[in-house]
Amino acid sequence: MTTPVRMLPLLTSAHEGGRSSMTCQYRCGNACAQDVPNTSDNEYFGDIVAAGVTRRAALRAGGVGAAFVGLTAWTLPQTAAAAPGKGKGKGLAKKPAKGSALGFEGIAPTPANVDAVKVPEGFAWAPIISWGDPLFADTPAFDFDNQTPEAQREQAGYNCDYVQFHLGGAGNNGAHKGLLAFNNEYTNDELMFRGISSSDDLTDEQLEIIMAAHGITITEVARRNASSAWRWVQGGKRNRRLHTDSPFAVTGPAAGSAHLRTKADPRGERILGTLNNCAGGETPWGTYLSGEENFNQYFDATGAPDPDGKLKRYGITSSGRGWERVQDRFSVTKEPNEVNRFGWVVEVDPEDPTSTPVKHTSLGRFKHEGATIALTADGRAAAYMGDDERFDYIYKFISKAKYVEGDKKHNMTLLTEGDLYVAKLTGDGAADGEYDGTGQWLPLVVDGRSKVPGMSVEEVLVWTRIAADKVGPTKMDRPEDVQPSPVTGKIYAAMTNNTRRTAAQIDEANPRANNKHGHVTEFTEDGGDHGSLTFTWKIVLVAGDPNDPQTYFDGYDKSEVSPISCPDNVAFDGAGNLWIATDGMPGTLGWCDALYAMPVEGEDSGALRQFLSVPVGAETCGPTILGPDSVIVAVQHPGEVDGASPDNVVSQFPYRGDGQPRPSVIHAYRRHGR
Ligand code: FEO
Ligand code: CA
Ligand code: CA
Repeated sequence: MTTPVRMLPLLTSAHEGGRSSMTCQYRCGNACAQDVPNTSDNEYFGDIVAAGVTRRAALRAGGVGAAFVGLTAWTLPQTAAAAPGKGKGKGLAKKPAKGSALGFEGIAPTPANVDAVKVPEGFAWAPIISWGDPLFADTPAFDFDNQTPEAQREQAGYNCDYVQFHLGGAGNNGAHKGLLAFNNEYTNDELMFRGISSSDDLTDEQLEIIMAAHGITITEVARRNASSAWRWVQGGKRNRRLHTDSPFAVTGPAAGSAHLRTKADPRGERILGTLNNCAGGETPWGTYLSGEENFNQYFDATGAPDPDGKLKRYGITSSGRGWERVQDRFSVTKEPNEVNRFGWVVEVDPEDPTSTPVKHTSLGRFKHEGATIALTADGRAAAYMGDDERFDYIYKFISKAKYVEGDKKHNMTLLTEGDLYVAKLTGDGAADGEYDGTGQWLPLVVDGRSKVPGMSVEEVLVWTRIAADKVGPTKMDRPEDVQPSPVTGKIYAAMTNNTRRTAAQIDEANPRANNKHGHVTEFTEDGGDHGSLTFTWKIVLVAGDPNDPQTYFDGYDKSEVSPISCPDNVAFDGAGNLWIATDGMPGTLGWCDALYAMPVEGEDSGALRQFLSVPVGAETCGPTILGPDSVIVAVQHPGEVDGASPDNVVSQFPYRGDGQPRPSVIHAYRRHGR
């Protein structure tokens, strides 16, 4: 399709961390402008080494413990970019490597003010579904200036994030039918309605529309043939919307606990709505996992007592987004336990629109980026999870029961009971030229018993951050997606950024002060078993401009890789190449956010190449790699630039003629011969 390209004035100054202040306000309640919620005195392991506690590591670093307190201790040799035999003059950032599964020519970065989707030569793109598209046969068509709560509850939600795709459908031509499920993380109220400069300007009806635009959208999709784009099917039998008033069941040890009971739900077993659904994961049994992330921003905490700091540890400190004006439960003083009913991993069976979605308390409560599942050697389900906050932690859950092939009903009980752990990383020193080391999964709940002194199992699960603070895990630089490779079983975690980390706080796992570009860390469970409680790790990408000496592309020749910043969502293709979506490049490198592919095995490991870029103001989310020539991406918050409004648009993506930006899931595909 034709994509108008408009060059706009330079973006206004970014908040720390690379996003516009508009993003910060609506996405995460200005998290980066707030105090860091983790004030625990957990040590940075750099401190431990410097103090001479880990003597072996100090010796391996050249025997100079004091070297660990400075940034340069963690800066790899600047000429170490090209390991012997790796990436010598192959131009891999541009051309597909010989034998590589990356079947596209990399594109150049796109200036941050360009309103266009850019894809590689030979590829096209098209929207699959956009905010407001009607899901049911009698749902009204999208009408920007006349939205209603009733219509929005039956239309695609706003700000698409994690995406899951299932091939197939009933009837003939199953190969050209599919099911698409995606998160609707948050809303840009100022872009949805005219004349909105703060939540005070919103009418009650607008607030109800906003609440209906959050949640999860499930829709059938179809394509004409193998060479055409997928498109949503209005009236599909499996179509469904889950929003702020949809009922969820609660499972696990904290279900029904006193901490989850409210006036509307005195049994603490039925929660209305899911909020700020960010990343997610597909289970081996075909269900949809979604992480409730920055749920704190929706609650008005004005005047709410917080004697033991539980609200503060979760960032529930703001005056909210006005939702308390239409539903009392969003006022913490009026309904103190409602905040405890968000911040969970939810599971939905997208194939059954009559099923009741659930919130799994066994996986703990924090700002869940997502959850991804791998099976242990003995068949239990391990869930890897990041808590996306500066200086917060990486977690793993292991189910008690084992997976049974083909028994979906049984498998959907796996996340209701099991053990919960949090990651502690230890470095092995700089002398080996790599940021790497060992680690262990520290127990929080095991065999139904709390491993945290002074906290019950229910308390550990409801206030998991506070429980983790007590056992000494490693404070990470905003751990977002944590995902096992389906090919190697190694786990990759994106640390998006952390501009608050100081030189005194760096360690081998988080080696940069003022880490505005982020990094990606590879974990290998000992014995290759996801049930293991120990692991090794190494950083495979220290993001940024490749000319920046602090960057590192798994030892690959940095003259041949693409610039990248703020890695966020990760995914894999069938060959095990790592795909990385970014969130924040306009503010850090001046480029549009993008999607990259990077081999993580063999001699091309680290040869990062850019696949596409998203329009001005947008973030790249939900990458789903259907094949080397077929990629689904969620384009979140297009046009989200300070000063933009419906009467002053900076993006018209996806260019469907209504003049307004509409968050959309898009399909990028090779034009011929897919
Ligand atoms: Fe919703 Fe951590 O990004
Ligand atoms: Ca090392
Ligand atoms: Ca994210």
